Amino acid sequence: MSITVSESRFRLDTADTTYLFQKTAFGHLESLHYGRKIPEGDVESLRYKHEIPFGSAVLYDESKDASYCLDELPLEWSGVGKGDFRTSPIEIRMPDGSFTCDFVYDSHRVETGAPKMQTLPQSTGEEAESLIVTLKDAVFPVYVDLIYTVYEKENVIARRAVVRNEAEEPVLLNQIMSYSLDLMDRSYTVTTLSGAWIREAHVVERPLRAGALVNESTSHSQHGNNPALALAVQDATEESGDVYGFNLLYSGNHRTTVELGQAGIVRITGGVNPHCFLWELKKGESFETPEAVLTYSCRGKNGMSQNFHAFVQNRVVRGDWQKKERPILINNWEANFFQFRQNSLLRLAQQGKKLGCELFVLDDGWFGARNTDTAGLGDYTVNPKKLPNGLDGLGKRINEKGMQFGLWFEPENVNDDSDLYRAHPDWAIQRPNRKPSLGRHQKLLDLTKREVRDYIVENVTKILDSCPISYVKWDMNRKVSDFLDGAFLHRYLIGYYEVLTRIFRPRQQILFEGCASGGGRFDLGQLCFSQQIWSSDDTDPIERLKIQGGLSLFYPISTMGAHVSLAPHQQTLRNTPLSTRFAVAAFGAFGLELDPKDLTPIERKSLRAMLETYRTIRKTCQFGKFSRVETGNDYTVQWQAQTEKQTVVLRVKTIVPAAQKNDLLEVKGLSPEKMYTLEQVSTPLFVSGFGTLLKHILPVTIRSYSHLLLAVNKYLKMDDYKETYRASGAQFMAGIRLHRSFIGTGYSDKMHMQGDDSAMLFIITEE
Ligand code: DGJ
Repeated sequence: MSITVSESRFRLDTADTTYLFQKTAFGHLESLHYGRKIPEGDVESLRYKHEIPFGSAVLYDESKDASYCLDELPLEWSGVGKGDFRTSPIEIRMPDGSFTCDFVYDSHRVETGAPKMQTLPQSTGEEAESLIVTLKDAVFPVYVDLIYTVYEKENVIARRAVVRNEAEEPVLLNQIMSYSLDLMDRSYTVTTLSGAWIREAHVVERPLRAGALVNESTSHSQHGNNPALALAVQDATEESGDVYGFNLLYSGNHRTTVELGQAGIVRITGGVNPHCFLWELKKGESFETPEAVLTYSCRGKNGMSQNFHAFVQNRVVRGDWQKKERPILINNWEANFFQFRQNSLLRLAQQGKKLGCELFVLDDGWFGARNTDTAGLGDYTVNPKKLPNGLDGLGKRINEKGMQFGLWFEPENVNDDSDLYRAHPDWAIQRPNRKPSLGRHQKLLDLTKREVRDYIVENVTKILDSCPISYVKWDMNRKVSDFLDGAFLHRYLIGYYEVLTRIFRPRQQILFEGCASGGGRFDLGQLCFSQQIWSSDDTDPIERLKIQGGLSLFYPISTMGAHVSLAPHQQTLRNTPLSTRFAVAAFGAFGLELDPKDLTPIERKSLRAMLETYRTIRKTCQFGKFSRVETGNDYTVQWQAQTEKQTVVLRVKTIVPAAQKNDLLEVKGLSPEKMYTLEQVSTPLFVSGFGTLLKHILPVTIRSYSHLLLAVNKYLKMDDYKETYRASGAQFMAGIRLHRSFIGTGYSDKMHMQGDDSAMLFIITEE
C-alpha cells in the first residue's frame, strides 16, 4: 500500500520517500513532510509550531484560534485573501466578483490507477495508487480536486489539480497551478536549465534568498527555460545530499515559482503560466491542470536524475520504441540543407550504410516550393524535380539498401508563399487588426480550429500510410506570437496533443523524434508522444556536454537526439576531434549529420570502426543507469552508464593544462569482489593536427602545408595510447592511474597525445 489515510492524516510512500500531510482544525491541508522515508511515528515532531504568531500576522479566525495564521503554515494548497500572502496556486474571480477564496477539506478517496485526464497527456499508472482530496471554497460551491498518484518504484509523486464550478454564476480563473508544495527552508540552491537556441539546457544554479524566483516560458516550452527545476541542499553533490526535482508533463507556457517566505518556508508552485491567462468556468464546468511530477533523493543529484530517468522511461515514453535501442541514423540536413535530388540522397544513404547507419532521414525541403525557408510550409505535395519517384519510390530504394526510411515534417507552420496559406489565410494565428510578426518567415497554424487539425492529420497520415516510413522528425521553428490570451496558448496545446494522438497512437511502430529548432519543446508532455527529441541544433560536442549534461538532470539519455557532424562546427566554429564528436553523441540517440564525402578516407574508416563499437555499447549508453561523475576539475567532464555486465565511461577534457598531472579514472557502482576488464576505445589521431610537431617523431622535417602531409593525413592515422586493465571492482572504484598525457618534453607511444576537447571512452566488462 503506497497510500495510507488515517484519522485526518494522508501518507504517501514510495520505495525511498514519504509524503505526509494532515487536515487542520479549520480544514486546510498542512504539509508535514516530504523527503526521506520515515516510519509511522509521532506527528507532533513534524508539525510546524506557531503558538505565537508574528506581530504582522492576519489571523484566520481569531475567535477560535489566536495563533492560526495561514501565512505561517506549510500548506498543500492555498487561496487568496485569508492571510496567506505567498504565491497562491489559484487566483479565481469568485461568483461574488471577489478574488477572496478559501479552500478547505470536503472529502477524499483512494483509487487504483491515475484518474484519466480529458485534455492533456499523463503518465501511465494503471497499477499505481492515487489519492484525490477534494477541497471546497468555504462559501461558494467551487471545488478543487488535488490528485496525487504514487509511483512507488520510481520514487515519484505525480500531482495535479482540477477546479470545478458548481455555482450558478460563472467564475474566472486567472491562475491555476498543478501543485503547491511547502518545505522548510534549508538554504537551498535552485537549479534550472536555461539558455537560448543552440545553447539550450545549460545548468544555472543560484542560492534561494528571500523572495520569489521564477522559471517560466511565455510561449511553448522553449530554449530559454526548460520546465524542469531542482532544489538541492547547499552541500549536495552528484552523489550525496538531499535533492528535490520538479517537472511538468506540459509543452506550453509554463511557470514554476520558488518562494522563500518570511516564516522560513519555501513554497514551490508549478503549472500553466498565468501570463495573460483567463479561463471562464460556467456552472458544471471544470479545468484540469497539467500533471506535475515531484521526486526526492538523499543520494544527491544523480539520485534525483536516476529517479526521473526510470520514471520517464517507464511512465512517460511509450510506443513500440519505449525501451528499444534507437537505430543509428544519418540525417541529410547539414549535408544538403535544401539542395538535393533523389540520386544525391541515395548516394548519401549508401555512404551512411557503408559506415554502419541503419536509418536514413530526409529532412526539410522535400515538398512544395520549399527550396529556401521562405516558402512551402503547409504544403504536402512532393517536389517532383527533387524526388521524381516520390517519397514511396525513395523509401523503397532506401529499404532495398537495408536501411529504414525516416521523414521530416513541420505541420504546425505555414509560409505566406504556400498553397495552403493562399487558400486559407484565416488558418494562421494573427490578429485581424495588426500586422502579424513572423518567426523564420512563417506563421503558426491555429490548432484550436478543428479544420486545421483535420488538415494536418489527413495530410501527415496519408504520407505515413503511403510509403515505408519508420521514423518521423516533427519540427516546429517558431514561438507563438499574435495570440489572443494565455487561455488560447493552452487551447493550442490541447489541439497539438490531439493531433499527435490521432496520428501516432494508431502507429506505435513509428519512432518519433520531436524537435523545435533543436532543443525547444524538450519536455515531458512531448515525450508522452515522441520517444526522443532533437536536443539542439548545436552539434559541437563541447557545447553538447553542457546541453546533454544539463538535460541528463531530468531526462534519460535515450530521449536525447545526438549527432556527429563536421568540424569546424557550423554553430561555434570550434574544431573538435572526430573521436570527441563520436563519444559525446554516443550518450544519446545517436546519428550522423554530415556528408561522409566531406571526411577523408581515413576519417571514414575510423568512423566506421566507431559505429561498430557503438553497436556493442548502445544499450548501455541509452538505457543503462546514468551518472555524472565529479572529477574535481571544471574542465574535465565524466559520465558513465551502467547495465548489469557493462559500464561505459566517457571522459572529456575541454582545456588541457600545461605540465598536466596523471589522471585518475574512478569508476562508480561496480561490485567490489568481482573481476572486470577495462578497455579503452581506440582514439584515432590525424597527423594534420600535429603540424610541425611531427618533426619530433619523424626523421625528416615535413612542412605543415606540404602535399606529402596532406596526402598522409588522408590515408594514415596514428592511434592514441589505449589503456587496458584487468582488476577487481574495488580496484577500479579506487581509481586507475592512467598513462601520462603529453607534457611538452617529448613523445612516447605509451602516452596520450590529445589536447583540448579530447575524449576518452572506456568499456568495463564484468568477467
Ligand atoms: C530546425 C531543426 O532543428 C534542424 O535539425 C532542421 O530540421 C531544420 N529545422 C530544417 O529546417
